[in-house]
Amino acid sequence: METTAARTAPAVIVAIDGPSGTGKSSTSKAVAAQLGLSYLDTGAQYRAITWWMVTNGIDVTDPSAIADAAGKPDIVSGTDPSAPTITVDGTDVAGPIRTQEVTSKVSAVSAVPEVRARITELQRSIASAAGTGIVVEGRDIGTTVLPDADLKIFLTASPEARAARRSGELKGADVQATREALIKRDAADSSRKTSPLAKADDAVEVDTSELTLQQVIECVVTLVEEKRAAK
Ligand code: DC
Repeated sequence: METTAARTAPAVIVAIDGPSGTGKSSTSKAVAAQLGLSYLDTGAQYRAITWWMVTNGIDVTDPSAIADAAGKPDIVSGTDPSAPTITVDGTDVAGPIRTQEVTSKVSAVSAVPEVRARITELQRSIASAAGTGIVVEGRDIGTTVLPDADLKIFLTASPEARAARRSGELKGADVQATREALIKRDAADSSRKTSPLAKADDAVEVDTSELTLQQVIECVVTLVEEKRAAK
């Protein structure tokens, strides 16, 4: 629900970046809901295009095949933080994009420049259409997608804390295996040539290892309110 303050305040753009398992999604959704802002999960968009590639038999080890197909799927994100949605060509893919198969292939697909150009354009148009403002979470939002964001947050956490959280989300998956898979995906996302996972120079870094989710949410809400008050 929009608050009166949110309706009258100028639009605020918040970029929240960081590796997986830092509490990015839970924090971003809660902050957006609390402040009456829209919410965009950009990882879901990269997962959706990866799901489409896999489903349509595209060889995801072949960057040129991925590049040729990058413009084909129609990806639509619903930006209500209490019920975010994602469809590909009209099909709800919220479940299928979380499978192990998609997770293991998303770094390769999202490293292809044509994929990034397409998804980045989509992200910018969604952000510019968000009336009261938006919280956009990802890996390159503060550095590349929305370099003029009002507030940039970079969430970090120790590999142990991140693996423990992800195993919990995956209902008891092996912590050690999850830790290794996370480290591998972060390394791929951080070392790719086109807009890698990186902290913007003007981002506020928050280490969430020793914080509860509620503490992280409160910290980010305070930072957004300060920015909004100063606008
Ligand atoms: O946040 P997530 O784990 O759902 O993201 C899935 C993958 O998408 C991640 O491994 C890298 C890619 N991604 C990206 O390259 N850029 C973004 N802004 C968001 C995600």
